[in-house]
Amino acid sequence: MQAIEGRRILLGVTGGIASYKTVAVARQLAQRGALVDVVMTRSAREFVGAITFEAVTGRAVHDALIAEGHALDHIALARENELVVVAPATADFIARAAAGRADDLLAACLVATSAPVLIVPAMNDRMWAHPQTTANVARLREIGYTVLDPAVGPLASPTEGAGPGRMREPEEIVEIVERTLSADASLAGLRVVVTAGPTREPMDAVRFISNRSSGRMGVALAAEALRRGAAVELIAGPLGVPVPHGCAVTNVETTGEMAAAVRDALPGTDVLVMAAAPADFRPAHPAVAKIKKEHGVPALELERTTDILVATRDARPPGCLVVGFALETEDIEANARAKLAAKGLDMIVGNPAGEQGAGFGSETNIVTIIARTGDAEHLPLMSKGGVAAAILDRVAGLRHGR
Ligand SMILES: Cc1cc2nc3c(=O)[nH]c(=O)nc-3n(C[C@H](O)[C@H](O)[C@H](O)COP(=O)(O)O)c2cc1C
Repeated sequence: MQAIEGRRILLGVTGGIASYKTVAVARQLAQRGALVDVVMTRSAREFVGAITFEAVTGRAVHDALIAEGHALDHIALARENELVVVAPATADFIARAAAGRADDLLAACLVATSAPVLIVPAMNDRMWAHPQTTANVARLREIGYTVLDPAVGPLASPTEGAGPGRMREPEEIVEIVERTLSADASLAGLRVVVTAGPTREPMDAVRFISNRSSGRMGVALAAEALRRGAAVELIAGPLGVPVPHGCAVTNVETTGEMAAAVRDALPGTDVLVMAAAPADFRPAHPAVAKIKKEHGVPALELERTTDILVATRDARPPGCLVVGFALETEDIEANARAKLAAKGLDMIVGNPAGEQGAGFGSETNIVTIIARTGDAEHLPLMSKGGVAAAILDRVAGLRHGR
């Protein structure tokens, strides 16, 4: 996705420890081709040097509302930029923004812009929990700004607790910026449920049967559906990749739990995408305690797990589009077509297992998309994000009767 190449982003930096991480945000945005105008508050300059931001963005850093030779900087910056991101946003800055103050360059830019605004708070957990901060954040959301919830994790001071307050990681901020700038409303107003990742079937108290799925394909689909304006629920087995910001997540462990979660999620769902790789077999008699090796090698009897598509078919709301995946080692198209018919799917995505650049764990995939009506489309090797876009292009087409 090159949504941000050549795009103008105003990156506001306020005076918190996390401002050192904003250097990585600025760098990643600039590396993707964005033109990043950094605006620092006076306090922010105590934490990171303007020269560092100048070096990573290749552009001048702004910090003064009244600077010689630069009258009306705030108006020009506010008008020319397509998105304003404030990261980190201190409690003090959030209070000033909520009050509509314009007493420094960054606050003035916020009042003067009509671009979307993304606020990324970072502060001590007690500052975040303070009722005044809660009220200020609510006000910003009311105005229409996107305010990310801070992460839970170690805060700057080693003596502090680990409640919410930590700034979201640079990669996540960049992902949200990309999504905001590449807004596409082709799935707006729809509820999309995506399953992702493997499931685990217990053998005893500590061992399980699973597979090599990372969840990357399902997560790419969830991120792409979010970008297109859908409300997304991700039903996830244990994932090897981070979940995109903004989707509701239901974590499950076994195939039976995934089936139950899909059934619960189906009412009101417009599109169900089954990108998970649930285990097909489970130990028939899992031991409650750990099986001791001193007792010899146990026999492992397996039984079928729930077939999620079959078991939840009666719960599909009328008109719900269902997309399945078929991971095959041979005869992909024939096997995928048979599954499409047997499971009552609208579309199936066949992908080869064990081929270079495709399948589990890989960053890329090679797929064949088969719709209920129509020919098979063989797509070339592409990133899983690209595959997700190709699948959802077709889903949007089916929804709109094309
Ligand atoms: C070492 C240090 C770290 C700070 N870290 C934070 C922080 O993470 N979040 C916050 O809201 N305020 C933090 N503050 C307080 C702000 O710097 C202070 O409220 C300042 O007025 C913010 O100004 P600004 O919002 O204009 O940048 C910190 C202060 C110091 C001295």
